[in-house]
Amino acid sequence: MTILITGGAGFIGSNFVLDWLSASDERVINLDKLTYAGNVHNLAELANDPRHIFVQGDIGDAGLVAGLLKEHRPRAVLNFAAESHVDRSILGPGDFIQTNIVGTFHLLEQVRAFWSALEPQAQADFRFLHVSTDEVYGSLSSDDAAFTETHRYEPNSPYSASKAASDHLVRAYHHTYGLPVLTTNCSNNYGPLHFPEKLIPLMIVNAQAGKPLPVYGDGQQVRDWLYVKDHCSAIRKVLQGGRLGETYNIGGWNEKPNLDIVHTVCDLLDELKPRADGQSYRSQIAYVTDRPGHDRRYAIDARKIEQELGWKPTETFETGIRKTVQWYLDHPQWVAQVQSGAYREWVATQYAQV
Ligand code: NAD
Ligand code: DAU
Repeated sequence: MTILITGGAGFIGSNFVLDWLSASDERVINLDKLTYAGNVHNLAELANDPRHIFVQGDIGDAGLVAGLLKEHRPRAVLNFAAESHVDRSILGPGDFIQTNIVGTFHLLEQVRAFWSALEPQAQADFRFLHVSTDEVYGSLSSDDAAFTETHRYEPNSPYSASKAASDHLVRAYHHTYGLPVLTTNCSNNYGPLHFPEKLIPLMIVNAQAGKPLPVYGDGQQVRDWLYVKDHCSAIRKVLQGGRLGETYNIGGWNEKPNLDIVHTVCDLLDELKPRADGQSYRSQIAYVTDRPGHDRRYAIDARKIEQELGWKPTETFETGIRKTVQWYLDHPQWVAQVQSGAYREWVATQYAQV
């Protein structure tokens, strides 16, 4: 048996591939364009593993996708590939429209053609799992209930709007053509292999480099943090037992304001790698101009996946963040390798004022 994964060289995708192959011998075809966010070094331990076949390419390349489906005949396609960083979508939405909407459309078309030609039993067993985000639901006030699967879509950034559009396409391919789809909407992930443009890895990396820790606005925006390995186990559960056409919210029941997150990272670094001058890393915090249209609060109600599929996160924020900080301290070469010229250009543009 074989599964095809897109975006498997990114943060969540590479964690998923590594976890999958540590628990199963089922072959993985990994289609990834290797944008700035994709990193084959994430998968270095699989370099000589015949269960993992890496293909560099675009989900929007219809010929390539059709050829991979024909050759490898996967029983499932899991779509992780996306442009994923909100700040980049604000500076330049074009790539987000192209990959997240147009790319997903081309992928769906090729999967539909492949699936339509399968034998009835293989058709019934096939799954297309689309990995999405809680950001499609928009922003909550402090006293609003957490997002359920029936919450209205109210995306506020070009990123979340492009993910919302892709979710709608996936839904339509089920409703119209009967494609056996599943969609997951997850909250903020953190953990190993997280590209240091996102809040937690950026803070860990900047702190050690003696650089400012840029907190947008008042730092009181709330996110619901989930350790990446828990996200991966939730996706496996949904793939295995999710009801066709359904969406499943995935979250860690870990709502925290950004400033608390930054303080926690600083305190862990103070403990694990104290500054030579004895000062706390908290002294590096710098308040900077807020993100335009910044969503105030996300929170996931994860009761559906718990009740239907028996999934619960295994890490608390305290255990997960400690593992994460330790992972970055143990992998300075990975950090150095991802801080390429393109990374430095991004940091210089985004944080010019700091
Ligand atoms: P990421 O940016 O780390 O990785 C994305 C991967 O997709 C990269 O390897 C990149 O090379 C690849 N890619 C981009 N465009 C492609 C294309 N056109 N064709 C093939 N590959 C392409 O993202 P991530 O954080 O790992 O997120 C993975 C998925 O999970 C995304 O769909 C994202 O929207 C969703 N998600 C992320 C989070 C989070 O907190 N990171 C939370 C919820 C949902
Ligand atoms: O909620 C799920 C989403 O989480 C995913 O769909 C996205 O792909 C993922 O990038 C993430 O989006 P966020 O915008 O929430 O994550 P980010 O790490 O960019 O920012 C987290 C919070 O921290 C957000 O409120 C903005 C703030 N922030 C971020 C950066 C990079 C800062 O204050 N300073 C920073 O330098």
